Amino acid sequence: MLFADFAANIIQHGDAQAIAALIARTRQASQTEKQALFNAADAARRPYYGKSIFFRGLIEFSSFCKNNCYYCGIRAGNDSAVRYRLSKEEILSCTDKGHALGFRTFVLQGGEDPYYTDDLICDIVSAIKDKHPDCAITLSIGEKSYESYRRYFEAGAERYLLRHETASNAHYHKLHPAQMSPEHRKQCLRDLQEIGYQVGAGFMVESPWQTDETLAQDFLFLRDLQPHMIGIGPFIPHHDTQFAGMKSPSSDFTLLLLALLRLMMPKILLPATTALGTIDPLGREKALRAGANVVMPNLSPKAHRKDYLLYDNKICTGEEAAECLQCLSGRIAFAGFKPDFSRGDHVDCLERVHPL
Ligand code: 5AD
Ligand code: FES
Repeated sequence: MLFADFAANIIQHGDAQAIAALIARTRQASQTEKQALFNAADAARRPYYGKSIFFRGLIEFSSFCKNNCYYCGIRAGNDSAVRYRLSKEEILSCTDKGHALGFRTFVLQGGEDPYYTDDLICDIVSAIKDKHPDCAITLSIGEKSYESYRRYFEAGAERYLLRHETASNAHYHKLHPAQMSPEHRKQCLRDLQEIGYQVGAGFMVESPWQTDETLAQDFLFLRDLQPHMIGIGPFIPHHDTQFAGMKSPSSDFTLLLLALLRLMMPKILLPATTALGTIDPLGREKALRAGANVVMPNLSPKAHRKDYLLYDNKICTGEEAAECLQCLSGRIAFAGFKPDFSRGDHVDCLERVHPL
């Protein structure tokens, strides 16, 4: 059997042991085999999304966070982090600008910041929806109660990104302080799904103590959860964390895992992340050729971009939204894909969406 067919079969049907063995085998694969895997992944999404690469406008609206994830540059305990919050008006000005540039999806991302009460989040979401009813709103603001998630949904948020970070509980506890619970995080994802969100989960690649076995658990967890989107990007150390000085991975392994995710779930929405573009100047283009089909350029005000620093050397912190957009859509077209500014819903969700 050809390597790509073998890999697709294991990743779709194998158990934890078989998947861990496949991941180990993939690391050792020849260049020809790796290329075959990328080609198979690229082909797997074409029946559903063609050559479209969906654009989401990312607004990083708060760099305050009450959590202390060990890997993250804006964790509460980092006294050197510069903190900012965008007001409702500033967020609306970002979405107005983004809408004029053509974006029809906005991702509001921030640390877990209690300043933004549920009332305020709902107020912001409904204000964006009122002004731009043709847009989808994605929230990425961490772990909340079922009731809070329900309120945001009723206010008009349709999608939610919450990376599970690692499906192994033991691994999770090595990356997070004791107060944070992997069970609760997974429960949040199930709650979001039950409410009706299009949900995104995901994990970092080559985070400290990650193994082929923990990765196999990630694949099995995702196969069971069946999210609409999976965000993965390389772990990149931040200088003010306990993981400072660790080596950044190369882009190779992230690309292989992207391809395996695409083969496991051909309809998934799969971003080529900024973190991948940070460790490899051509990382995002390579990701598209390995099955990724979403990009999330930054719409945050230029003055604050360098302060939403989850990891070191983040790219695009000096560009205006319009510059980033032009750069990225040019690069995508040059790589042979089609920049797509529609809402970019998951294929299984198209009927549910209003026909604007
Ligand atoms: N390197 C790479 N990704 C990171 N994230 C947080 N810190 C880092 C880091 N140092 C990721 C986490 C989080 C997402 C918003 O960013 O997976 O869920
Ligand atoms: Fe931001 Fe190229 S994508 S500058």
